[in-house]
Amino acid sequence: MHFPSSVEIIEVGPRDGLQNEKKFVATEDKKVLIQRLAESGFQRIETASFVHPKIVPQMADASEIVDFCNELGIFYIALTPNKKALERALEANVKQIAVFVGASNTFNEKNIRRTIDESLAECKEMFPIAKANGVFMRGYVSMAFSCPYEGAVSYEQVKKVVSSFVENGADELSIGDTNGRANPRIVYDRLTRLKEDFPDTTFVGHFHDTSGFALANILAAIQAGVTKFDTSIGGLGGCPFSPGSTGNVATEKVVEMLHAMNINTGIAQERLAGIAEFAKGLV
Ligand code: HMG
Ligand code: MG
Repeated sequence: MHFPSSVEIIEVGPRDGLQNEKKFVATEDKKVLIQRLAESGFQRIETASFVHPKIVPQMADASEIVDFCNELGIFYIALTPNKKALERALEANVKQIAVFVGASNTFNEKNIRRTIDESLAECKEMFPIAKANGVFMRGYVSMAFSCPYEGAVSYEQVKKVVSSFVENGADELSIGDTNGRANPRIVYDRLTRLKEDFPDTTFVGHFHDTSGFALANILAAIQAGVTKFDTSIGGLGGCPFSPGSTGNVATEKVVEMLHAMNINTGIAQERLAGIAEFAKGLV
């Protein structure tokens, strides 16, 4: 088994954790959550999403949230599904952006109303604009193992999206088990292959916990050489267009497991239970 000395945890709770909540979480409460997370040692937090406010009303306060993050001086990521979103994010002076495309076409069409090819073509136009503005670019590949609409997702489907992001010069790629149905074997095999096919690319593991395998999937991803993971405080989360899926893997459980294995995260573990309780109280 392979145990790295440290792993980066990227906290996605304020965005992926909250986006699916029907009742609007007050912007002031989101700010408290972000500040408490930043004070606990997270180097990067995904805090906002410039998606259509009518489609995901929970993220309608994206500009106000990123203004707050800029004032705090933290490194944060904001989601931008299209050129309009990129425009809004650049106006708000966002420095780390995530584009997202599904490996399954049905999901992508439901999620962002575009075919995969249309989304990849739009991303191709977005990357140079973002890069010219000095923005760090993350690419998400959603439904990278299976899909609630199409079932199994092949390696070739994932590779197609990854190749396009790599050609565009993505700074990192987050491989998403969006519906939380992956298992350690497919995670290990798929990530090992991706790292062989794209040796210069930084991959991040993004696991939801529908089947209860997310911690095991993280361990499998570590064996494949992945050392960055997206997690959500309190295990909050879910995608509005991924029916039946539960939340992201809980930050506090991942940190507890890694620290118990003597893998450093730089996060103040003792603070997480209190923040998780606060986060769960918001929803
Ligand atoms: P659309 O309706 O197809 O957009 O939405 P359009 O291009 O046809 O434009 C229609 C109107 O919307 C126009 O206005 C645009 O200006 C406006 P009009 O001319 O009619 O007045 N518009 C916008 N306004 C504000 N912000 C924008 C924007 N874009 C267009 N960005 C769109 C396309 C992608 C915007 C929409 O489908 C959308 O917002 N989808 C987001 C869905 C979402 O947030 N899903 C969850 C996140 S993905 C996820 O959770 C998975 C992930 O976590 C990975 C994992 O878990 O594995 C990343
Ligand atoms: Mg997610």
